Amino acid sequence: MPSFVFLTVALALAISVAATPVQKRDAFSVEQVARGTFRKNGPAQVAKTLRKYNKAVPANILAAAENNEAVSVQDDTGSDPAVPSDHYDSSYLSPVTVGNNTLHLDFDTGSADLWVFSNLQAQSSLSGHDYYQTDSTKKKTGYTWKISYGDGSGASGQVYADKVTVGAVTATSQSVEAASSVSAQFTRDVETDGLLGLAMSSINTVKPQQQKTWFDTVKGKLAKPLFAVALKYHAAGTYDFGYIDSSKYTGPITYVDADTSQGFWGFTASAYSVGSTTTTSSIAGILDTGTTLAYVDAAIAKAYYAKVSGAVNDDTQGGYVFPCSATLPDFSITVSSVKQVVPGKYINYAPTTDGSTTCFGGLQPNTGIGFSIFGDIFLKSKYIVHDVSSTPKLGFAQQAGV
Ligand SMILES: *[C@@H]1O[C@H](CO)[C@@H](O)[C@H](O)[C@H]1NC(C)=O
Repeated sequence: MPSFVFLTVALALAISVAATPVQKRDAFSVEQVARGTFRKNGPAQVAKTLRKYNKAVPANILAAAENNEAVSVQDDTGSDPAVPSDHYDSSYLSPVTVGNNTLHLDFDTGSADLWVFSNLQAQSSLSGHDYYQTDSTKKKTGYTWKISYGDGSGASGQVYADKVTVGAVTATSQSVEAASSVSAQFTRDVETDGLLGLAMSSINTVKPQQQKTWFDTVKGKLAKPLFAVALKYHAAGTYDFGYIDSSKYTGPITYVDADTSQGFWGFTASAYSVGSTTTTSSIAGILDTGTTLAYVDAAIAKAYYAKVSGAVNDDTQGGYVFPCSATLPDFSITVSSVKQVVPGKYINYAPTTDGSTTCFGGLQPNTGIGFSIFGDIFLKSKYIVHDVSSTPKLGFAQQAGV
């Protein structure tokens, strides 16, 4: 090729590149950080979920949660549990810079507030926490937020428009909900400095005007308007923003339309399987990284535990329990004709108390909730894509290495 032709082509290329406006499109992954350990308490998790979804907590579940706590604390005076990892789990949280402070937040696909511990709270409620130092010049005067649960617990405070950085992306004027009051349930959870909601902005609690979630604020800056979640079994998981990481799943990603009408990442499954036995059933559920267990219709929980020898739905334990030595069958839901399998061993949540040989199930009935909630017990074997490119959709895939 004569060199002048090459030069002309090169020149034309250079011009066309220069003429294209450069748009920075971000794609990055946020790795969770293990922040301390906590004692697993199955019925306390059930109570927490009922509160989160504004449902009354039955007395037997409260009593079971307290009993579990009390018996376990007594055991603290004795020998250490033989297998600590059974009784304890790490809190896996994500680092986020809010204003000038780096906090560790719980990324929650089941809520839409970005609320943080702040200097507006009493000093006594901040012990052990990193918190947001509010900047009065950034205050959104007249704005407040409040997350209130059926039993009177919750959190509330003021609103600021400040810089929020997650991984490679900064929202320069993100609505930050600074707590002034936080009920005991949250202050006890010393590892969590707040929540970063990833559900729909339509359920944000800021008044008089709802505010956008961090994801809604930055989605236009991302290479693709999506995020993907890979929570892990006894390990730190990741949140990928703006891209899908093909090394994190095997097989196809199966998409289904998301039902966002209630503000959640809702979807409908068409069947469930216990081991290899499949039963057709329309299952309306949501995905929620901020919920520890999985909750399904009572009939489905019953069908599952019918295949676990020694399993009982025990009121005094606050749900389904079984001998810790039991072999658990896999549990699957069928989404867009593809089975999404949760390995049986993932469904053993924890011993009911330290040293107990009775274990609390990670799959529990959704009694009183009215829909299914697929929390961490389900998510830890999945790679889930939350995509808002057009009509919101959810992509389900089996996590690599599970
Ligand atoms: C944040 O840091 C900047 C730069 O150091 C400082 O000027 C500002 O006062 C800080 N804001 C707060 C609320 O501490």
